[in-house]
Amino acid sequence: MKSRNLYINTIGCQMNVYDSEQIAGLLSTLGYKLTDFEKKADMIIVNTCAIREKAEQKVFSYLGRMADMKKKKPELIIGVGGCVAQQEGRNILKRVPWVDIVFGTHAIARLPEIVQRVESKRCRVVDIEMTPGIDEFELPEINNQPDISRFVTIMQGCDNFCTYCVVPYVRGRETSRNPENIINEIKNLVKSGIKEITLLGQNVNSYGKKQGMCSFPELLEQVNAVEGLLRIRFTTSHPKDLSQDLMYAFKNLDKLCNHIHLPVQSGSNNILKRMNRKYTRELYLEKVEQLRTICPDIAISSDMIAGFPGESDSDFNQTLELMKIVEYDSLFAFKYSDRPNAPAGSFSDKISESEKKARLKEILNLQEHYTLKKNKAMIGSTAEILVDGLSKRNTEILHNNELQFTGRTSTNKIVNFIHNLDKGCDTSKDDINNLTGKIISIEITDGFANSLKGSPVDINYLN
Ligand code: SAH
Ligand code: SF4
Ligand code: F3S
Repeated sequence: MKSRNLYINTIGCQMNVYDSEQIAGLLSTLGYKLTDFEKKADMIIVNTCAIREKAEQKVFSYLGRMADMKKKKPELIIGVGGCVAQQEGRNILKRVPWVDIVFGTHAIARLPEIVQRVESKRCRVVDIEMTPGIDEFELPEINNQPDISRFVTIMQGCDNFCTYCVVPYVRGRETSRNPENIINEIKNLVKSGIKEITLLGQNVNSYGKKQGMCSFPELLEQVNAVEGLLRIRFTTSHPKDLSQDLMYAFKNLDKLCNHIHLPVQSGSNNILKRMNRKYTRELYLEKVEQLRTICPDIAISSDMIAGFPGESDSDFNQTLELMKIVEYDSLFAFKYSDRPNAPAGSFSDKISESEKKARLKEILNLQEHYTLKKNKAMIGSTAEILVDGLSKRNTEILHNNELQFTGRTSTNKIVNFIHNLDKGCDTSKDDINNLTGKIISIEITDGFANSLKGSPVDINYLN
């Protein structure tokens, strides 16, 4: 088999990261090896995101830059996959003449056959057919990075139709994967050295319901029982479906991390209604309180949209007030953006760009205050962190035999710490390997806006 190089540029959410891994695995069966260098590539795939206008612009500006590469190397194959591909289909071929393949979110399984067709006939192919069910692959393990954490998609699509959101149109109807396939995939990942799994779905709380499979908390129990796995995370949880069973799972399952991402989007009932979120501010706050009663230390994060159509000053103030009540550990906030097919695009009372910007800034400033407050409050406490490896900023050995490592607390906070290597002996490689993927106790010595600093309590590994 001829060996060729594949470069994948992944834009968008964790689901795209997972899909890109599947794509790399599938194309490896045709002889394509992943490369980190665009210039070395025989094929470039852009896995795209359509969630906001900016994400879509990013795709087309990247594709624009590909023109020169294609001129210099006409045999280069350029493929566009993911949510923008699903949304725009054939238009991409018209708009970007040097693109060879457009494949949608349900076409990944058909990609090897498409690529073979393009290779042999040098034709251009569009496949955006949406198929029911989820394709399951047996993939060779091609990721030789020493990862300790991986995403596993447990369901595709979404049936919620929030009025601002493009996902139901580009990912299709909600479909859950069979629990056996999920567990087998996780067991294989653990065998290859993975310590932490993040289960992915647009609304994991409704996992299995439509197809009469086990519930999400039951699936979590099965994942918790996988030997060798140290930590479980999941995202995203829709507040309307957050059940008591799931709240108790945080308390009862030892591997389930102490963090929930519970996007509220707005603190105003008027806006939540227009967003079709199907919960009220009161119900949301009640669920947060129940959660904190069951798990007092749980970290809660959220998503917020600034300047949804019709958001008055008073609506916006209720968002700020809700933030003050909940005191989130962290928060992602976005300016509202019209999306094709999403009904809010045609809502009246649009908010001006400058007002959206000002509101976004206010949300971010307020959140920074709470994140910092929470991080500072951790100073002096001890936390167990799963060590990810050397911190990015510091991959060199420091002068006096010190290395900076990074890891995460169960509550999903980044902790950087210095580890002293044994002086005089060449154990650096072993030390890095020994620490990476281990859970260790760290005393928190400082707290910043985006991370914590700590020092190991003792390097007696806990596992
Ligand atoms: N399924 C998840 C969200 C997936 S999209 C959930 O229901 O929470 C991730 C985030 O993007 C959303 O939570 C929302 O805050 C944001 N988002 C989605 N569509 C948007 C739009 N049109 N404009 C601005 N932000 C948007
Ligand atoms: Fe989009 Fe709403 Fe579905 Fe989340 S729940 S993916 S915001 S439609
Ligand atoms: Fe973007 Fe598609 Fe994910 S629109 S956020 S890549 S599901």
